Amino acid sequence: MSENMQVLQETVNFIRQKISGSAPVAIILGSGLGNLSNEIKAEFEIPYHEIPHFPVSTVLGHKGRLIFGEMGGKKVWVLAGRFHYYEGYTAQQVSYPVRVLRLLGVQTLLLSNAAGGVNADFKVGDLMMVNDHISLFTENPLIGKNDDSLGTRFPDMSEPYCKELIKKALTIAQLNNIELKQGVYVGVTGPTFETRAEYKLIHALGGDAVGMSTVQETIAGVHCGMKIFAMSVITDIGIREEANKITHEEVLQAAKDAEPKLTLLFTELVKVL
Ligand code: HPA
Repeated sequence: MSENMQVLQETVNFIRQKISGSAPVAIILGSGLGNLSNEIKAEFEIPYHEIPHFPVSTVLGHKGRLIFGEMGGKKVWVLAGRFHYYEGYTAQQVSYPVRVLRLLGVQTLLLSNAAGGVNADFKVGDLMMVNDHISLFTENPLIGKNDDSLGTRFPDMSEPYCKELIKKALTIAQLNNIELKQGVYVGVTGPTFETRAEYKLIHALGGDAVGMSTVQETIAGVHCGMKIFAMSVITDIGIREEANKITHEEVLQAAKDAEPKLTLLFTELVKVL
């Protein structure tokens, strides 16, 4: 067993001692999107700081927690609170929980995030399914010695976001009269929001939305064989020409406002998995 795997197994064993149930699906909740956890009939919750080898957070404080419970009639794991690279964690630490989930038996990972829109057709409050990403501006979480028991050294990334799940979500959205956009999510480190020139560059590079999370979790998830689905809530429009100040409060409020749509979609998606 590699050193990394030994550490991961210690985390998994600790969680297993608390929770014996299993679930094939996990959800990671993005900034301002934590209320989705109210939809879960929680059987067990563990604060992150009690979980061995989980990144220790000063920013998340005691808020971050791992939940096991039922949603849409299915068992799920939920990570309420995620780790961001801009907080000072390494790319490996950011994606550590994803690997733990895989070893707990998770096959499908649903990610949510708040993101800035750089597509002129987007408006604040839109939901954008991520159909591809650009992660070249962030550190790759697979840098370092590869653990072959987790995944291959050079993973294919031609379809990081599962097409079948995107199709299912589109059907759910149509049935529920929810407008769904699709596009390319560009991962950046943050914590600054982008300059006007940077938003334009991101758009010119083929991006539709930009955010400070998700891509590292997706890469780690694909590496260890998970199906990934990711949804961005567009919380600000980077390319608008007029007064263009973006605040964290505005981002959180916009995410909160769009949350009911996201909750409905995720609940229905879990049902049909
Ligand atoms: N840029 C980067 N990350 C973000 C943004 C943004 O405009 N909005 C929410 N997260």
